[in-house]
Amino acid sequence: MRTADAKELAAAAANELRARSGADGYDAMVVLGSGWTEAVDAMGTPDIELDMADLPGFVPPTAAGHSAKVRSVWVGAKRVAVFLGRTHLYEDHDPMRVAHAVRTGVAAGASTVVLTGAAGSLRTDFAVGQPIVVRDHINLTSMSPLTGPDFVDLTGAYDPRLREAARDADVTLAEGVYAAVVGPQFATPAELGMLRGAGADLVGRSIALETIAAVEMGASVLGLAMVTNDAVGSVFERFDAERALDVVRSRAVRLGELLNAILVRV
Ligand code: HPA
Repeated sequence: MRTADAKELAAAAANELRARSGADGYDAMVVLGSGWTEAVDAMGTPDIELDMADLPGFVPPTAAGHSAKVRSVWVGAKRVAVFLGRTHLYEDHDPMRVAHAVRTGVAAGASTVVLTGAAGSLRTDFAVGQPIVVRDHINLTSMSPLTGPDFVDLTGAYDPRLREAARDADVTLAEGVYAAVVGPQFATPAELGMLRGAGADLVGRSIALETIAAVEMGASVLGLAMVTNDAVGSVFERFDAERALDVVRSRAVRLGELLNAILVRV
């Protein structure tokens, strides 16, 4: 699929989203990553909750900790479309499908895109359970949601203004560089060493392609990654996916409140 076709499909999905929710448009959108789903309850009472499958081009997420719903909520005076789950490359989706929710939200009017996700920490000073603001990414998927000579500038892709708003909402928030990998397997100790050497602070399997699509459409992006596992100290421990999800779930209310505190500031 070409970028233009992906945008056309997203425009159709945006029209359906607006028609079903009764919203003229949206100010912001949020994609909730692994385990973040329950944060939406702390964001406010939804106007409406839809099935992603009712919108053109959506395939329901299959990963644990993701839901196939979209909610329309008010955060202060802003109307926010919250996608309660996402699709990943490792679910055998192509980059266009991975970026579809973001393109749909932006086509529906959202000029602010908040992307959340789980990540492994490559730093000894990031604790499990800590949300980290994404300062930049290293896209190691070898893929892009763009086709053709579309030379999008990614300098400042993670909008400094939104990062400032996040720190204003919570002064304890740290920042880091997010390395995006395809997965689904977790990295080997040698790969983690390479990622650290390359300047990455976090490793995860989402966010980067969605950011590229959002920036190409002119939206501002904030990335928020919850550290679910220590990918430095415990490289010789088996990765426990269920425990990682519980790390996020147990902090869902706080994360929802943090998202709201940021959204009212942007
Ligand atoms: N690696 C890749 N993706 C992840 C990790 C990790 O350690 N933790 C959460 N998502």
